Amino acid sequence: MSGIVIFGAGGRAGRAIIAEARDRGHRVTAVVRDPGRYADLGSDGVRVVAGDVTDARAVAEVARGHDAAVNAVSPFSGPEQGFDDLDPEFFVKAADALLRGLAETGVSRLVAIGLFANLRMPGGGLVMDDPSAFPAEIRPFAAAHTAGLDRLRTADTTVDWLMLTPPAQLEAEGARTGGYRVGDETVPPSGARLSYADLAVAAVDEIEAPRHHRTRVSVFA
Ligand SMILES: NC(=O)c1ccc[n+]([C@@H]2O[C@H](COP(=O)([O-])OP(=O)(O)OC[C@H]3O[C@@H](n4cnc5c(N)ncnc54)[C@H](OP(=O)(O)O)[C@@H]3O)[C@@H](O)[C@H]2O)c1
Repeated sequence: MSGIVIFGAGGRAGRAIIAEARDRGHRVTAVVRDPGRYADLGSDGVRVVAGDVTDARAVAEVARGHDAAVNAVSPFSGPEQGFDDLDPEFFVKAADALLRGLAETGVSRLVAIGLFANLRMPGGGLVMDDPSAFPAEIRPFAAAHTAGLDRLRTADTTVDWLMLTPPAQLEAEGARTGGYRVGDETVPPSGARLSYADLAVAAVDEIEAPRHHRTRVSVFA
């Protein structure tokens, strides 16, 4: 059994990863910004605590005593939200705070959830740079995500991080099959999909038996 601390625990990926980790008998700490809004997360032995993923001190406080961390945080949940409040440095700040807070407390493994927009098209360009493949109006979010990935890549850190990047079709209602494929930096074949439940399977697999280190891979069904 491992102790896993999950940031963004109240979101779609966070909840799926909690369920997968608990099903496999792991001890889970769910980190949300306002525990009062997430009373339901506390069932099934999950400890719910307050924490902001961009605050290294908060990360260290909640991560202490765990074996691995998951970053399933998103400051943007849908186009209706707009980008007026988006901090372009959000994912960079999160990467910095996580790497600092986890290293300080000896949590050696970090699994982060990525965004398909910074995978590469067969021609070599990024998906986010092709308006026919990615809506131009969502590009600021994709650019912020990409800056966070770049920060992980260039960090001088003891933390063994991994970013799992789903395909464009990431389905909240999709079933758990227990299977998935792992790709490289290239966008998966057209029509590829993945359920949040199977994304969670991949995340917990990479915590139980890490296969990829300090890199980003794509994950798809
Ligand atoms: N196809 C794709 O590539 C694809 C599709 C969807 C998502 N994703 C990625 O997958 C990851 C998870 O997405 P999701 O769909 O699970 O998002 P979600 O359902 O919108 O949940 C995101 C969670 O992040 C939390 N959060 C926001 N700011 C925070 C902060 N400063 N500190 C701590 N928690 C914070 C929010 O909680 P509160 O606001 O309640 O605090 C929310 O519960 C993200 O990186 C997202 O970009 C990729």
